[in-house]
Amino acid sequence: MSKRLAPRVNGLSYGGDYNPEQWPESVWAEDVALMREAGVTVVSLGIFAWAWLEPADGRYEFDRLDRLMDILHSGGVAVDLATATASPPAWFSVAHPESLPVDADGRTLTYGSRQAFCPSSTAYRRKALDLVEKLAERYKDHPALAMWHVHNEYACHNARCYCETSADAFRDWLRARYTGLDALNAAWGTAFWSQTYTDWAQVQPPRATVTSSNPTQLLDFRRFSSDAHLANFTAERDVLLRVSPDVPITTNLMAASCYELDYWQWAREMPVISNDHYVLAEHPTPPAAQTAYAADATRGLAGGGSWLLMEHSTSAVNWQPRNLAKAPGALLRESLGHVARGSEGAMFFQWRASRAGSEKWHSAMLPHAGTASKIWREVVALGGALGRLAEVEGSRVVAHVAILLDYSSGWAQEAPNQPSTDLHAFDEVKRWHAALWRAGIAADLVHPAADLSRYTAVLAPSLYLADDDAIANITGYSAAGGTLIVGPYSGLADRNDHIRPAPLPGAFHNLLGVRVEEHFPLPAGASVALDDGSSAAVWTEQLSVTEATVLASYLDGPVAGEPAITRFGEAWYLGTRLDDSSLQALLAAATGAPVTHHVPAQVEAVRRRHEGGNAYLFLLNHGDGPAVVDARGTDLLTGTAWTGPAEVPGRGVVVLREA
Ligand code: GLA
Repeated sequence: MSKRLAPRVNGLSYGGDYNPEQWPESVWAEDVALMREAGVTVVSLGIFAWAWLEPADGRYEFDRLDRLMDILHSGGVAVDLATATASPPAWFSVAHPESLPVDADGRTLTYGSRQAFCPSSTAYRRKALDLVEKLAERYKDHPALAMWHVHNEYACHNARCYCETSADAFRDWLRARYTGLDALNAAWGTAFWSQTYTDWAQVQPPRATVTSSNPTQLLDFRRFSSDAHLANFTAERDVLLRVSPDVPITTNLMAASCYELDYWQWAREMPVISNDHYVLAEHPTPPAAQTAYAADATRGLAGGGSWLLMEHSTSAVNWQPRNLAKAPGALLRESLGHVARGSEGAMFFQWRASRAGSEKWHSAMLPHAGTASKIWREVVALGGALGRLAEVEGSRVVAHVAILLDYSSGWAQEAPNQPSTDLHAFDEVKRWHAALWRAGIAADLVHPAADLSRYTAVLAPSLYLADDDAIANITGYSAAGGTLIVGPYSGLADRNDHIRPAPLPGAFHNLLGVRVEEHFPLPAGASVALDDGSSAAVWTEQLSVTEATVLASYLDGPVAGEPAITRFGEAWYLGTRLDDSSLQALLAAATGAPVTHHVPAQVEAVRRRHEGGNAYLFLLNHGDGPAVVDARGTDLLTGTAWTGPAEVPGRGVVVLREA
């Protein structure tokens, strides 16, 4: 049996952010009673409670938190205790105005919302660590303590700060990276536009200027900003490790929505990987595919192992243009969609809906309507379902396809002055993932320099910038016979975002057996037809083959008659952005990867497996009517033993312990 993610939690993790500081103490006992009714096993306590725990500088008031920890423990609810450092109190910001974040236009942003601090602020770091130390000392041996929840969604609101403190820290970071100014000038290509620096004091963050900033400066500033936040995380983590070495530690990432932090670097520093995910109600990608991406991306960060869904919503959120409520059954399917893909539970923002504040119209486990509500009934049912799924804990999803994701590459491509504003690296990664999802093929998200040897196929949807390690790794994988499928605008730049020497695509022309002569992005809304029946938009390029075979050519568009899709051995190149269904057809055929299970179109199938033990087939029916699936086993949710085809109720879920 593999090591449990949070050994003190009784079963899978089920619960949510618990913000009792928003409520009179008289409500707390009712909270715990209702948590028991819902089958809650753990809550994330006190995430935004800094001002409540330290109402004035150095005046710590822990007696209420003491009582809460005791009440929760006696109710059988474990605690994922927050370090409460996500939102500095007003007294702190007033005492340390230099800690407030400054945007690229030089505007100082004030307090009064949350996370209003500069990530490089030493005053913030010092006061945060004081609080962490006090909390760790006080609660390290409390029997309710199951995990430390450091901060909350780092960089959610204060990703990059352009103040003087940040400028100094950025210069230090650059000195460590380049040692001397000559190397920095070379890396940034400052000979262009007379940008050469002759003194470190001249170097600054990419603040607002009259036209485009230097792209490598932009890229390095994003790398630096990720590192600045990471240093805050590791500082808190190290205090916790010193004071309470045996307690698991996490911080909640946003793997499907935040592209401000290099999560591969973060993941290496995180004892437990957890993630927050909110579906975009009006997005063209269906909610289930969004869920699948978030879960697969998080599992990738966890190296294929256990992770935890730390937040999602029971119904509507409050920050989209129209906050659509979830249809009946969606809550169960979405939660179990994460569990199917490796989450060791399903947690929410938040336990009890807030009466005041910005999030009063955000759904919760206990809604404003109280227990006589669809949400509450579904919350209680989900608690029961998770209780019956306890045995899946520790099992793993096995995928045969890897999708490469690189933050630096995406950041470089987000700089201005690209050939087209319509090609977006992070969106392309999601779109390729969604194509596999529709085809029923399981995929892992991985770093381009990760071990690829166990995969049948590796996809590089958008890898504009590929550093030398990535190229060596991908080339090695391909040389060993693996199937590689590369998307357009890939392999062009080195780690400093300098274009690699001819022929293009510099990193991959040998591997792919092609040469790119010139890019021909398409006008807005235009599309092209290919002679294999597929269609494409956004991007075309003048491509010639050196050793590859042409699989499809353009029938029209600016490069009509020229190659669009090529193949050299097991290395495929797409010189265009295929539409969704063409992409799905190509990937399903080219990856050679098995589908997880043959199911009707409305059903999603995902499998978790204990090494050398039981396998669990999750069947999520996204359609309204029942579906029949040729599968056998015992449904853990109902106890039904299916000896013939299994029936999955409309909008329902079956989890088979496979025979
Ligand atoms: C994030 C935050 C929560 C809450 C939710 C609302 O995930 O971590 O505090 O604001 O968003 O969806």
